[in-house]
Amino acid sequence: MSVPFFRPSITEAEIAEVVATLRSGWLTTGPRTRQFEQDFARTVGARHAVAVNSCTAALHLALEAVGLRRGELVLVPTMTFGATAEVVRYFDAIPVLVDCEPDTLCIDVGRARATLEELAAGRATAGLAPPYGKVRAIIPMHYGGQVADVAAVRQLATEYDLSVIDDAAHTLPAYYRDPAAPDGWQMVGRSADIACFSFYANKCITTGEGGMAVTDSDQHAARMRVMSLHGMSKDAWKRFTAEGSWYYELVAPGFKYNLTDIASAIGLVQLGRAEALWQERRALAAAYHAALGELPGLTLPVERPDRRHSWHLYAIRIDPAVWGERAGFIQALKEHGIGASVHWMPLHLHPYYRDTYGYQPGLFPVAEAAWPGLVSLPLFPGMTRAELAEVVAAFRAILTKPVAQTP
Ligand SMILES: Cc1ncc(COP(=O)(O)O)c(C=O)c1O
Repeated sequence: MSVPFFRPSITEAEIAEVVATLRSGWLTTGPRTRQFEQDFARTVGARHAVAVNSCTAALHLALEAVGLRRGELVLVPTMTFGATAEVVRYFDAIPVLVDCEPDTLCIDVGRARATLEELAAGRATAGLAPPYGKVRAIIPMHYGGQVADVAAVRQLATEYDLSVIDDAAHTLPAYYRDPAAPDGWQMVGRSADIACFSFYANKCITTGEGGMAVTDSDQHAARMRVMSLHGMSKDAWKRFTAEGSWYYELVAPGFKYNLTDIASAIGLVQLGRAEALWQERRALAAAYHAALGELPGLTLPVERPDRRHSWHLYAIRIDPAVWGERAGFIQALKEHGIGASVHWMPLHLHPYYRDTYGYQPGLFPVAEAAWPGLVSLPLFPGMTRAELAEVVAAFRAILTKPVAQTP
């Protein structure tokens, strides 16, 4: 039996909704997208949700809405996907990289504070040298669905007058403890000024490609909506309907980021299934924990007591002394028919960030220590217990015959 890294969970309901959309005569942004936005905002508990065609687009619009300018600074974890930092570069602004916590792999807020103090004092820090522009924002990212310390991020943001843009690409749902919330838990996205979600094919819910920017701010929502569609004045999508007018004005040179109704049709059904999909992932993660917890040389993902992981990823760390070096280990898994992936090489080790800013190995030791051992295992709703057992059996087989060390 082979086990893929991911298999999307698409039911007849998603298929029927797409077919209904195709038959409706309205394919691009329209009534289904508006419905998806309303349902999404209600799910997160926010006032507004703006649907776009990727999380990257949502992050870009969010930074534009909070007024990021050329030469300004944005705190970004080095342990993240390229999109989190590339959107800062769209403004010719500077991503100030920050190390991660050793257990959660989310941004280390203590390190972020130290960096802000050094920036404020005009000292060299995090590979950068003064003079510095204003620090405009911080982008906490919830690694694999593990929730960052959002209370500490909010505190820091208040002290340093930063906007908080959550990179919540890996969540929905994920939660953090909040004594002010009715049941003591708040959904990830509520603590940010703007939170950005991804509906890429393998995310917690999918529209194939897609994203959502969520906010309580009327002003941010209005700006993101206008900028998501060429900078056209309000409700431009209605211009081809009976409700709409042919007249619009361009108020800014915007972008083409709107989500289609075909994609929203999938999203509406997936959103309705989000809780059930999460419960499946949680059960699978618990089964992995029980089975892999018996094996040596593995660091398993944690769930802090005040947070509820979305279990988008099940990212473990292997000890090369037990399992051999990672490339050989992933190859061995492949030979057993098991798909795996790696999230991620820290940003400061990539040539673009190294060459543009002089970021170097040694600057962010926690991320660097984690990265060589990181392996993400198959975890998706619909994965059977037999498939999970197959993954664990592959581990046991590799353990009896470890892969060679690189010299
Ligand atoms: C942490 C993180 N942020 C942002 C993105 C970008 O999401 P999208 O592909 O929807 O633009 C991804 C995609 O994998 C991601 O992992």
